[in-house]
Amino acid sequence: MEVEGAGVPVLFVHGFPLDRRMWRHQQERLSRCQRIVPDLRGVGASSAPAGGYSMGRYADDLVTVLDAVAVRRAVVCGLSMGGYVAFELVRRHADRLAGLILCDTRAEADSAEARGNRDALIGLAEREGVRAVGERFLPKLLAPTTFAQQPELVVDVREMMGRLSLPGVVGALRAMRDRPDSTALLPTIRVPTLVIVGEEDQVTPVAGVERMAAAIPGAGVVRIPAAGHLAPLEQPGPTTSAIGDFLTRLA
Ligand code: MLT
Repeated sequence: MEVEGAGVPVLFVHGFPLDRRMWRHQQERLSRCQRIVPDLRGVGASSAPAGGYSMGRYADDLVTVLDAVAVRRAVVCGLSMGGYVAFELVRRHADRLAGLILCDTRAEADSAEARGNRDALIGLAEREGVRAVGERFLPKLLAPTTFAQQPELVVDVREMMGRLSLPGVVGALRAMRDRPDSTALLPTIRVPTLVIVGEEDQVTPVAGVERMAAAIPGAGVVRIPAAGHLAPLEQPGPTTSAIGDFLTRLA
């Protein structure tokens, strides 16, 4: 975990199959807030137990992180799976939230087809290793514009995915497969919320993300041009500005 700076505490929650370094630009540039950037269990610097992965467990782990840095309430900024964890924080620990930033995520649970795909990916990870899972994800994660214009970022994301642990990948796939539907939670969200989506996101396309935002009282939406599912990495300038403006209004 990395903790830097002072000001409004912001807890950054990474997506799958990635680690905390996906937030590195925001960590560097949002100098007027306290950046709390952990790896979820099974990832990066965190331990990788063989089992016990669920959205609820990830959320409880993050409360332990907040306690460890003596932060009572934080703005939670989650991307994709990080957003699923943020919904679990709303469900279980709403009193720890000062605001929400939901990037490239969705509130719906997996469909039957998506659950089948998760099982197939678990099988692939166990047979061929985590890199094989990364290769399946990569084409969907980044925008066509990113593949064309930022080859170094493609290499970087591939490396990040290759460093994951097998228990962490299998655990995250199971946790995503079994996560509850959070759509009924959206109208109950009482903290200021910003929703961000890459205009070329293929995993959580703009229309669905905008529908999700419309169900959250008072939520604003920012669309990031030339970004896919990983807007904070693909277009760090506009993504960080959107987050910074939201935090300024909040303060
Ligand atoms: C993520 O970016 O966290 C994952 O793509 C989300 C998912 O597979 O549902």
